[in-house]
Amino acid sequence: MKILVIHGPNLNLLGTRESDIYGTKTLDEINQSLNSLAADLGVELAIHQSNHEGEIVEIIQHSGKCSALLINPAAYTHTSVAIRDAIAAVDIPAVEIHLSNIYKREEFRHTSLISPVASGQVAGFGPDSYLLGLRAAVVVANANKSAS
Ligand code: DQA
Repeated sequence: MKILVIHGPNLNLLGTRESDIYGTKTLDEINQSLNSLAADLGVELAIHQSNHEGEIVEIIQHSGKCSALLINPAAYTHTSVAIRDAIAAVDIPAVEIHLSNIYKREEFRHTSLISPVASGQVAGFGPDSYLLGLRAAVVVANANKSAS
């Protein structure tokens, strides 16, 4: 089973970016933890980071061979109809994740355009949100497989 992982804009700066909110782990370190959990769970990951909305849309459109999508849409969470529509258009379940608890932050972060097209959301556990999200992605991928 292959899981597509997408990190949205500015997440390439993790480690130095607003470390009081996002912590000090770099994106490489997060990806290493994800790959190590994926090996334990017996799944393969295809990991992408992009700062560009259209590129994220294209990655989602080409997700054909993946069984689930694990996505931190970052700032696009709150603005991107295009990413929401791309997720709705492909036939794979999505898990939305955030390092921070977006509901405890500024009001503009309280709305996610992605949640209505996701199977669920994990937010507020720092880098562990990714690991919890990966477990959730495997659960929804398996549920989707047995339903079809
Ligand atoms: C984020 C939360 C977003 O509001 C913000 O724009 C990000 C990161 C998070 O992981 O907590 O870039 O998605």
